[in-house]
Amino acid sequence: MIITIDGPAGAGKSLAARQLAKNLGFRFLDTGAMYRAVTLAGLRQKINWENTGELAKIAANLSIRLSDARVLLEDEDVTAAIRTFEVTTLTRHAADNLGVRERLVELQRAFAEGKNLVTEGRDQATVVFPKAEVKIYLTASDEVRAQRRYKDLLARGERVTLPEVLKKQMERDRRDLQREIGGLRKAENSIEVCTDRLTADEVVAKLEQLVRAAEK
Ligand code: C5P
Repeated sequence: MIITIDGPAGAGKSLAARQLAKNLGFRFLDTGAMYRAVTLAGLRQKINWENTGELAKIAANLSIRLSDARVLLEDEDVTAAIRTFEVTTLTRHAADNLGVRERLVELQRAFAEGKNLVTEGRDQATVVFPKAEVKIYLTASDEVRAQRRYKDLLARGERVTLPEVLKKQMERDRRDLQREIGGLRKAENSIEVCTDRLTADEVVAKLEQLVRAAEK
């Protein structure tokens, strides 16, 4: 069984998807982490971001492994390194790159092979797993999402301000929505869940309810 969870940054996808997978005994796939890992590799190799071929080539040859909680890039644990503000801002180069997208979609489908999976991203229901059994579209208001991201970055020791986070978030939303291939779209048969007034536990409980109902 495949469960897709798509939605904008800060809607609470990662936390909810990871916990949902745990509760169901399913594997978990964080596809945003893959775009971030490609970006980190590009950053380290000091590529020219305007040359799309360079990043696509890196993605084509890169070893990215995701265990349930860790991200390994060429066997190095980059779980924290891919979450910095710098990588977050630069990740649009990977997300906009068709060569990178093609490669990562391929890896995502290979990862899902023969597994029960909860997968999280922007295009999981629309592009990667159009036949998924349960499709969730997780949202929250701009302010709530920015607050969550801001707290998260502060906890990681980054020096950012809330208006700065909100501005970047709006830029990222615009890009995610406008991206022609793999952009953020609600699939026709997705169930929308707004997390504004829900605690993290309530979100997971709600999603679990939806999955159990689909299993019947
Ligand atoms: O979800 P997360 O914020 O970690 O994703 C990082 C970036 O990767 C997003 O801003 C989005 O542009 C991109 N992304 C994507 N397709 C996915 C997952 C993430 O384009 N399936």
